[in-house]
Amino acid sequence: MTDIKELYEKKGQGHVFAFFDELNEEEQKSLLKQAADIDLDEVAGLVSSLVKNSGGSKNETIADELAPADYIPLPDSETGVADLWEKARAEGEKALRSGRVAAFTVAGGQGTRLGYDGPKGTYGVSPVLKSSLFQIFAEKILAASRIYGKAIHWYLMTSIINNEETVKFFEENEYFGLHKERVHFFTQGLMPAVDDDGKILLADKANIALSPDGHGGALRALVRSGSIRQMEADGIDTISYFQVDNPLVRCIDPEFIGFHLLRDSELSSKTVPKAYPEEKVGVFCEQNGKAVVVEYSDLPERLASELDENGEIKFRAGSIAIHVFARDFIKKLGAGQSEDAQLPFHLANKKVAHITPDGEVHEPTEPNAYKFEMFVFDSLPFAQNPVIIETARADDFSPVKNAEGVDSPKTSREDQLRQFARWVKAAGVEIETDDTGLPPFTFEISPLFADTEERFVEKWNALTEKPELTEGLVLV
Ligand code: UTP
Repeated sequence: MTDIKELYEKKGQGHVFAFFDELNEEEQKSLLKQAADIDLDEVAGLVSSLVKNSGGSKNETIADELAPADYIPLPDSETGVADLWEKARAEGEKALRSGRVAAFTVAGGQGTRLGYDGPKGTYGVSPVLKSSLFQIFAEKILAASRIYGKAIHWYLMTSIINNEETVKFFEENEYFGLHKERVHFFTQGLMPAVDDDGKILLADKANIALSPDGHGGALRALVRSGSIRQMEADGIDTISYFQVDNPLVRCIDPEFIGFHLLRDSELSSKTVPKAYPEEKVGVFCEQNGKAVVVEYSDLPERLASELDENGEIKFRAGSIAIHVFARDFIKKLGAGQSEDAQLPFHLANKKVAHITPDGEVHEPTEPNAYKFEMFVFDSLPFAQNPVIIETARADDFSPVKNAEGVDSPKTSREDQLRQFARWVKAAGVEIETDDTGLPPFTFEISPLFADTEERFVEKWNALTEKPELTEGLVLV
């Protein structure tokens, strides 16, 4: 074990063990383990390529290389083709009936913007019952399992910060009716925070300042945890990916899965047209013949505001972090066997509390450190036959990111209510709504009652006694 200390010394990171002799045996062991798990060469490479070069302007240089990415429009849009969607749906349903599809949620993030004390998935978001995000997803997965007659496996990536609490939450809630053996948790990798000089920071005398390696870390974590092997053994080759913060997401969408399979895609994505040029979502583009997502902060301003010949935003294909992955694509990329098939790390300049060399706690008021994160959409240019389909924002995307304002619990709750109101109207029930489609009272439709408008209408019409739509009604 002293080898590790020597190695850290040799690589200029010996300060990590500055307080080693003050620690008890257990703490020493834990610190050595944390240190051993860090790839110091990887960190050194990132420090020289990212930290030392931070602050440069990256924008304009890529402007000439970018074109808007092609996507499959919705069937009811002017250019949409209904037949294609029908075929895709049939293919997706066939795949679901055969049991080759798993759901996958990335839930390892820190959720700092929401400021909620607990794993984000345990946060209550539904309008009446305040069901947690995890419960909503579980019920959608359970509903799909029933509809297609095949129990769907659900993989969840957590991180060391929230794994224990997440698993406990599922245990306490009896897995929301899912079979425990089909719910699989695994933790993602960690990366150390470094200062301006590339020195690894200590959170306290016994712990390195570590944080999750980004949602892109999902690919290597799926491989390292053995999840990919387990999928192979269970005959699963198609993975429906979504984030923990979006209660509207169609966790299992047969049309999306169908397009992915029909086009033999390694990675498929959903898009919604950007609502306005400055909207803070990444944009699907084509760069040197490859599909890519350009982050909003990296999209040159003149492109972000450019309009096409129909007066629409030209670079409008917003990325909403909903994907279908081919299992073997993850197996290849997550194993990181070749340098050119490696997801890049991005730099985040953050406030990180740490211990100074003289053992004092430093609580910064300004960003003082760098964290390294991988993004899942960076896998897009590596994929063969990438497919991008349009989806209706109102039926797929209303994330809970911030405590207040845009993408907050309030906006997401209202978007859920609008969806319920649309479904009820589609079933022919008169219900008053404001200009935005929001009903004046709060009610809720559980995914176990219906998970799509079509199924809601069917189920509602089949009810012999229809409940009165009033404040607090829950349809389960
Ligand atoms: P966000 O980019 O919203 O980050 O994650 P976050 O950490 O949850 O929240 P903030 O930025 O601190 O407020 C988008 C999705 O990616 C997952 C999150 O759990 C969420 O589902 N994620 C993010 C991970 O699983 N691991 C990570 O390291 C980062």
